[in-house]
Amino acid sequence: MYTRFVARLIGLDIGTSGTKAMAIDEQGKVLQSSSRRYEVDSPQPGWAEQDPEMWWMAAESCLHELGGPVDAIGLTGQMHGSVFLDQAGQVLRPAILWCDQRTQVQCDEIVEKIGEKALLSVAANLPLTGFQAPKVLWLREHEPQNYRQVSHVLLPKDYVRYRLTGDFLTDHSDASGTGVFNVFGRRHSPKVLSQLDIDPNWFPRSAESWVKGDMSTAQGVPVVAGAGDQAAGAVGQGSVSEGIVSLSLGTSGVAFSTVDGHTLPENQNVHLFCHAQGGWHVMGVMLAYGAALTWARDTLCPGLSFEQLSDMAFNAEPGARGLTFLPYLSGERCPFASSTIRGGFFGLASTHQTTDLIRAVFEGVSFGLYECLVALGHAAETSRELRVTGGGAASLLLRQLIADLSGKPCVQLDVDEGPAFGAAMLAGVGVGIWPDVRAAAREVVREKAMTDPSSCDHSHAFERYKSASTVLKDLCAQTNTIK
Ligand code: XUL
Repeated sequence: MYTRFVARLIGLDIGTSGTKAMAIDEQGKVLQSSSRRYEVDSPQPGWAEQDPEMWWMAAESCLHELGGPVDAIGLTGQMHGSVFLDQAGQVLRPAILWCDQRTQVQCDEIVEKIGEKALLSVAANLPLTGFQAPKVLWLREHEPQNYRQVSHVLLPKDYVRYRLTGDFLTDHSDASGTGVFNVFGRRHSPKVLSQLDIDPNWFPRSAESWVKGDMSTAQGVPVVAGAGDQAAGAVGQGSVSEGIVSLSLGTSGVAFSTVDGHTLPENQNVHLFCHAQGGWHVMGVMLAYGAALTWARDTLCPGLSFEQLSDMAFNAEPGARGLTFLPYLSGERCPFASSTIRGGFFGLASTHQTTDLIRAVFEGVSFGLYECLVALGHAAETSRELRVTGGGAASLLLRQLIADLSGKPCVQLDVDEGPAFGAAMLAGVGVGIWPDVRAAAREVVREKAMTDPSSCDHSHAFERYKSASTVLKDLCAQTNTIK
């Protein structure tokens, strides 16, 4: 008889640019992975939508490629997106994604109706254009024929769970980014929902990230609640206790730290969400980190690999010979929130060459991420190290810039597989491989390399960046740039 000793835990990540599935064992060794890519639709400027059927097809195909046997599945994915289903579980319209900017009016409406203080005391965060709550109001105002048929509002990974198991379930970390969740009480807020006149039955029940759902897959595999991509990514990086800050150098740039959840962040643009280990975390998100690097490569140096681009920037003069890049290509969330601000080059002279422009983009995204880190306040100040992950972590220049700016070592991890890895760990906790999430992190997360701060002084370039940013913010506030 065939006996299997090795656990096989699957993490499934429903990302913005693609879906990824990964199998790990109880040592945290990656056994297999598969992925499918897809696009974001933008039917109008500032809009971002995807067809949930596309996620499901990608997920099915990735899981099929991995094959069996499987002990448990953990789900993760892009946060905040809204999938509207009717009573029969049919999708009513394309999902409206986290980076969609159409709901500023509804965000203002929510704050006006409930009041900043009351909102912060429950939801811990003010609504942002990407959150679910303003999207529900938008649907009510703009697509009443769809609104009348809504029976369920799901987050992206929870829609895939529904297709996988038939279960309506979410987890506390992902639910924290809806705007209708009581982050301190770890449950949806009947009060906020009633103030917004939204049916509370539309939202799924919510559980801790490692808890198994009531229903399994057709093959009988348990599926744990999982986590939003940021919390799951942090689990995979071992960023599950205070003192370790993680930085995600992905499409967006994220500074993330575990906190005790007793105090609201000083900067209102830093999110306080439930963490996937049972506690809380703070997080500052800049919208275009990798997105700005990709834009620069595709526009200024088409055909170059990311490595070549990074080498070009590395060899250029620090400070980009007086040139500053502001990375607000799709608005900004942290350190300030603006759906209308857009990016730019500042200080451009006829003597600047492509290498200076690229250097300025590398510095600009690093300054933006550093500002997110600073915005975390005490959690960042007292951290011992910064753990970097995501595509940008492969660039020595990006690691060095963040180490120099923060004065803290930047650590790369042995396994840098993103949120799917953390989701697989959550699955392992759910089926008893590890007693809890912190123990799982102690078992499987290992440091690989460290970039120490150098003596390079970026203070002039950073001051210039901050001044240019202030000017641009004011300018864009006067002229609506979404055209
Ligand atoms: C987190 C956030 C992004 C998305 C897409 O608040 O908006 O990380 O989850 O990755």
